[in-house]
Amino acid sequence: MAVFMLPAGCSRHKSPHYLYGSNCGICHHGGEGMAGAVPPLSGRIDRIAATPEGRAYLAAVLMNGVSGPIRAAGMPYSAEMPLFRYLSDQEAATILSWLSQQGQTKPAPEIKPEDIAAARAHRISAGDVAEMRAKLDLQHPLP
Ligand code: HEC
Repeated sequence: MAVFMLPAGCSRHKSPHYLYGSNCGICHHGGEGMAGAVPPLSGRIDRIAATPEGRAYLAAVLMNGVSGPIRAAGMPYSAEMPLFRYLSDQEAATILSWLSQQGQTKPAPEIKPEDIAAARAHRISAGDVAEMRAKLDLQHPLP
């Protein structure tokens, strides 16, 4: 059987931008979201990821989804984001860290594969993730 191997340097298909675009872009677009329907991520992920609790929340969103109502960037959202358990820990961490790098915080906070693994091991409902967010918002007001 012929197996085609991509040369090591040719990892375009796993580039952070590609992973974001193919998994998240359909809803969050270039990061700006859709006002009133899908919250923006640009300029927010770095600020949410600034604390360990914030990183745990972001990892929980990817592993469990999130179902509001929530308020993001001053606007209410009441939709549901599906979970992304089919992504590997590394892929999910790569996407979130890449989003974090798009913000103003320098150096950008990094989300580690271990953060994703911890969230993966703790299956909760999308509604519980929204509750986790509400608690986080009281502790560290979210952008
Ligand atoms: C099918 C559409 C859809 C896709 C695909 C999607 N999201 Fe979402 N996302 C949403 C919606 C809708 C919300 C808000 C849910 C709510 O109202 O509670 C959300 C919320 C979020 C939040 C929480 C924002 C906050 O302010 O708390 C993060 C982080 C996030 N998405 C990241 C991602 C990432 C990263 C991907 C790709 C791996 C992704 N989303 C893919 C629709 C989507």
